Amino acid sequence: MKKILFVTSEAHPLIKTGGLADVSGSLPKALIEMGVDVRLIMPNYQAIKTIGEIYYKSTVRVNNINAHILETRLPGTKVPVWLVDCPELFGYPGNPYVDEQGKPWVNNAERFAFFCRITVEVAMNRGYLEWTPDIIHCNDWQTGLVPALLSLEKHPRPATIFTIHNMAYQGLFSKETRVLLNLPSRLWSPNGIEFNGMLSFIKGGLAYADRITTVSPTYANEIQTADFGYGVEGLLSYRQKYLTGIVNGIDTDHWNPQADTNISACYDASTLHKKKLNKTALQIKYNLPVDNKTPIFVLISRLVEQKGIDILLECLPEMLTLPLQFLLLGKGDKLLEQKLSQFAKIHSEKMVINLGYDEAIAHQFEAGADIFLMPSRFEPCGLNQLYSQRYGTVPIVTRTGGLADTVVDTLPETIKNKTATGFVFKAPTTGSLMEAIKRALIVYEDSKNWKQLQINGMKKDYSWNRSAEEYLALYEQL
Ligand code: ADP
Ligand code: GLC
Repeated sequence: MKKILFVTSEAHPLIKTGGLADVSGSLPKALIEMGVDVRLIMPNYQAIKTIGEIYYKSTVRVNNINAHILETRLPGTKVPVWLVDCPELFGYPGNPYVDEQGKPWVNNAERFAFFCRITVEVAMNRGYLEWTPDIIHCNDWQTGLVPALLSLEKHPRPATIFTIHNMAYQGLFSKETRVLLNLPSRLWSPNGIEFNGMLSFIKGGLAYADRITTVSPTYANEIQTADFGYGVEGLLSYRQKYLTGIVNGIDTDHWNPQADTNISACYDASTLHKKKLNKTALQIKYNLPVDNKTPIFVLISRLVEQKGIDILLECLPEMLTLPLQFLLLGKGDKLLEQKLSQFAKIHSEKMVINLGYDEAIAHQFEAGADIFLMPSRFEPCGLNQLYSQRYGTVPIVTRTGGLADTVVDTLPETIKNKTATGFVFKAPTTGSLMEAIKRALIVYEDSKNWKQLQINGMKKDYSWNRSAEEYLALYEQL
């Protein structure tokens, strides 16, 4: 069995800003349960929440800076985690990437280049850890320089996989940064880490990794087009033979309506009537009229352009005239936050907004809601539509990326053959979203069909079983 070093900039429950953390926390867990020797390496941010013991393993020096490698376990799993400890680069409070104002930390290039260099030392067994990986599995731009730097090492060296979780974040920096970071000039070309005269971290992964994956088959196709490829679509098409899409799984222990400690009443497909206790709890908590017949819509998201929040904002005046309640949990763009707050203030009997980041509330929303809104402009995979289906909360999604691959639209034939799990609309526009909302409300009125939709979603297997097998097959190929 191959030995895998999983390289990531966040992992739940140690630290999380989005779905990358969910995947980094659950895929290695699934792999280790399948008998794979997998270890995770990530920066030791000040905000990391470790549980249990941490051991000092070794000290590795690159560019005249020392990093201590500390070992712990991913809480609740057997996965060993190596934390790259360097307080001068990672010892800031809060978010791994941005400051309190949402501005990227000024030394992000230096921070993640350092992390990549330390990872290369560990990959080449120069980190005194007595463990030589066969494969380095990198994730997103923060780890992009690993395949590039490894390509310069002599054989034998480990093979590399680079997984794209989001093409919108590329780690672009000025050309001077390359010199400051002392990156070898051999890597500096349009076929390498240069992108229109700038330094691109993500291209280190896209150009040099032995295999590229992304988190759904539809997104794998989309990023080879100008609309979704952010200027790198040519390179991705050129490397098409090495690019595959593997849909994310979910941690079915953590997102389990049968045993979720965050919610008022646990339930499953055979005790679906108990779901309404969670609905009532939400209505009471947020001072909304307690009424089981009125559908609760929810949205849980980073408030950024990707997620189509502006499209939703345009729908709100009409949406709030319909018989529904709407709860939103999110954090992000200040202007979007402001506009949403204004609506919630005027329509407090129907709409409540929680401008924060809160795991427990996210679970309560999934359990208590009837409908989940995900009007994304693009969505590499998306996890909330999967959590929603597992919680019997029917998702309304744009037909894009992983949303297109994991939600089956409600049509006469999909109702009949019991495959329908949600509402899928064609384009990220106000008109299409409004139409989907109205379609959902009509089906909601028919409680028998609605229950069938919920059960269809709850019965689907979104555990890592299948997708982890796909990664295993890829590891075996290398
Ligand atoms: P992305 O990674 O693009 O943000 P995903 O759907 O893959 O989108 O994953 C988002 C993850 O972050 C989900 O687990 C979701 O529940 C969580 N999340 C997003 N915003 C919040 C929030 N404000 N509070 C709690 N959880 C959130
Ligand atoms: C990214 C994407 C999201 C995906 C997540 C995990 O943040 O935006 O669609 O689910 O990564 O792969």
